[in-house]
Amino acid sequence: MDYDVGKDIIIDVKRYLRGKLIRGNKFLYRIADERGPAGSFMDSDSFSGSDKNRDNLKKDSIAVKKDRMADNEIRLEEGIRYSADLPAQNSLFEKRSPEKENKLEQIDFEGLKEEVSRCRRCELYKKRTNTVFGDGNASAGIVFLGEAPGKNEDLQGVPFVGRAGKLLDKILQAIDLKREDIFITNILKCRPPGNRDPKEDEIKACEAFLKRQLELIDPAVICALGRVAAQNLLRTKTPLGKLRGRIHYYNGVKTIVTYHPAALLRNPHFKRPTWEDMKLLKRIYSEAKEQNVV
Ligand code: URA
Repeated sequence: MDYDVGKDIIIDVKRYLRGKLIRGNKFLYRIADERGPAGSFMDSDSFSGSDKNRDNLKKDSIAVKKDRMADNEIRLEEGIRYSADLPAQNSLFEKRSPEKENKLEQIDFEGLKEEVSRCRRCELYKKRTNTVFGDGNASAGIVFLGEAPGKNEDLQGVPFVGRAGKLLDKILQAIDLKREDIFITNILKCRPPGNRDPKEDEIKACEAFLKRQLELIDPAVICALGRVAAQNLLRTKTPLGKLRGRIHYYNGVKTIVTYHPAALLRNPHFKRPTWEDMKLLKRIYSEAKEQNVV
């Protein structure tokens, strides 16, 4: 794999290891620059998500500049192209005992969907008709993230099927995408009564489902729709107007923020900035495709 200067390599490492590792696996890696491999394989200690990867990569003083730009970002030194060579053979992986592992961290997509459908982690289960796990392509390069199911979504068990959903379909169309090309889900998997804002405890209860969903899909880019989705995903209180228009990182995955389609229905002035955001989304996605990471 080749990496461009200034790009976040964690994403690529995660992507390379997609489906090969579960939490607790050990793996070996080495990083090489254009002059050749940087030493022998290094022991990863163990794999426990992108944080661990970041630490491992940081430890490699030959290949990776020490300074950390942001939580999930490491920049490569100017003027040098690096490549990482990660052995994929299963024999190099050493599994920890599964008993020690948290259930959700190992679960596959179907298992996770099943788990969500049975969920009683917060009070919302009492009034739901259906859980709304998500819709679209489970290995999509783009994930759209909304707030919570509304009435129609609760009835059908599918996200974004009401008026806002129809507008979202048009937005997708405008950037040559269909539902089958992306995955859509929400911060909450059950409808809050009367479409009120999600409560803190509901968001907390549902968080692990979203985290695992995003780990399994491992998209090139996430697009958070609206304030609730953006602030909760990125764990910030920054207003939406200040979050949009730039790239953030969620566990190493490029993330952008735009207006919720329901807000767009209420306020046509949001159309232009939303279009700008969609162009940014498309650009990130196209770059990822060029780099063969989706
Ligand atoms: N609004 C959302 O945020 N999500 C849906 O699924 C529907 C409407």
